[in-house]
Amino acid sequence: MPLTSLIGLPGSGKSTVGRTIARRLGMRFVDTDAEIERRAGKAVRDIFEAAGEVAFRDLEAAVVADLVCGTNAVIATGGGTVLRPANRLALNTATTVVYLRCRPDTLFRRLRNDKRRPLLQVNDPLVKLRELFSERDPLYRETAHFVIECERPTVTMLANTVMMQLELAGFANSDRASPRADLPNDDQS
Ligand code: S3P
Repeated sequence: MPLTSLIGLPGSGKSTVGRTIARRLGMRFVDTDAEIERRAGKAVRDIFEAAGEVAFRDLEAAVVADLVCGTNAVIATGGGTVLRPANRLALNTATTVVYLRCRPDTLFRRLRNDKRRPLLQVNDPLVKLRELFSERDPLYRETAHFVIECERPTVTMLANTVMMQLELAGFANSDRASPRADLPNDDQS
């Protein structure tokens, strides 16, 4: 699996999940915001303040264009990466894209005290998160190969996640054995 990327709103867990997956797969982990900060020599917040959002998006597009040429890495993208069509196309064609889909209220609880994300330094961050969700959810869906719902996982989803982890750890393989008749149906919660 050469390149995997994670997309989703701020606070959806792209960096944390990405770092974990990269470790399990023995691959490099790259965070586009961290790479932008490294190249610019300043924090994302300072880039927004000094040069504006368009300049930040230009840097972001350059980083995405470079990263999709690599291999064997897990990439956590910034929440607004999908705004530019060229980024959506590059991620979708060169990487396996996973959308971590969370509701704005959940993200708000996680990000209430955040001072790092310039777009959320507003009077009402919940309203802002709702706007971002309605604008971007279709773009995330269009870009992604897989959508992972972050809320209320069903028994089936939990079971699939456990199975995937067992497969990654080498404790199971994907050729499923036939289900045992004495176990309950996995759709009952
Ligand atoms: C942004 C999200 C941030 C960062 C920048 C803009 C956005 O990344 O790229 O502040 O437009 O949603 P995270 O999604 O990692 O917070």
